[in-house]
Amino acid sequence: MTVATSTAMRTIWWDAGRVRLIDQTRLPHELAIVVCETVDELASAIRGMRVRGAPALGVAAAFGIALAAVRSEARDGGALLADLAGAGRVLRATRPTAVNLSWGVEQMLSRARQLAGADVPTIRQAVVNGALALAEADERACRALGRHGADLVPDGGTVLTHCNAGALAAVAYGTALGVLRAAWEQGKRFHVLVDETRPFLQGARLTAWELVQEGIPATLITDGMAAHFLKAQVQAVVVGADRIAANGDVANKIGTYGVAVVAKENGVPFYVAAPTSTVDLSVPTGEHIPIEERSPDEVVHVAGVRIAPAGVAAAHPAFDVTPARYVTAIITERGIARAPYADSLRRLVES
Ligand code: MRU
Repeated sequence: MTVATSTAMRTIWWDAGRVRLIDQTRLPHELAIVVCETVDELASAIRGMRVRGAPALGVAAAFGIALAAVRSEARDGGALLADLAGAGRVLRATRPTAVNLSWGVEQMLSRARQLAGADVPTIRQAVVNGALALAEADERACRALGRHGADLVPDGGTVLTHCNAGALAAVAYGTALGVLRAAWEQGKRFHVLVDETRPFLQGARLTAWELVQEGIPATLITDGMAAHFLKAQVQAVVVGADRIAANGDVANKIGTYGVAVVAKENGVPFYVAAPTSTVDLSVPTGEHIPIEERSPDEVVHVAGVRIAPAGVAAAHPAFDVTPARYVTAIITERGIARAPYADSLRRLVES
């Protein structure tokens, strides 16, 4: 894995048999690009949060299978399919909650399986083309869901968001921030409250960076301030999702559940913006969604400085699940789902 600096503004892209991605651990201080040449390098970038956010992880997974196809020394189609399946196992094991990751792997493997019996160059090319198409589709989906969601954004009000569901969490444009971008492009004017999103600080480091670049007025708050502002000063909440169960329960960044409960208590609509690739109809409720446990070191350190005494235990569930009853609507690229989600989500996913 090599690192270079650049001003490229896509989050992740394919470049002549390599994957390039913005290193999100170095923002907002430095816009650095990581170059991954192998599946292991890409898997390490995913585990280390250099690339993150559910839609971006789906595209990263697809590019990972493309890397495996390009690097494979298989001499026949069967051996190549076995190499791709092995790469899929490595990629799926990186992070468990965002379903887009295993979805991206599966999209590529099924494309390759359809060509079983074909020669190595044919399968290789089909996988690379498939990954490129999936990346293009991700940007189209974000722009489409942005257009659907823009109508829900209040003109002149304040919107709160948690974590980063922006361009950096997808190939471009973003989901929750895609909705805000689309509303802004339509001429609506509003203010964004950005939860800092401890412990990884996606809000402070990434969402704030995107909004500053975009010229959308934003105020950074600590996570503990969200309830105070939701009481009287927020007209809508928009967040992304890592996995949405068939009943509409939503797994998203740790802290989202608390925001949703306080929003409902105060009559503030709570919107979730996500492509249909984030909906997992095979999971009936949120209880079945695996929650990633990350290292407690990320809690007891801030920007590399230890903030807690040695000897104290720390917990780090990276996501929580918001029950569907707190979700006002789910904005997808195919339209807006409302309760009862078991019906509305299935209709959108299968349309
Ligand atoms: O741990 P992360 O940074 O990958 O978590 C990201 C989130 O929780 C996002 O809100 C979610 O993936 C939606 S991104 C469009």
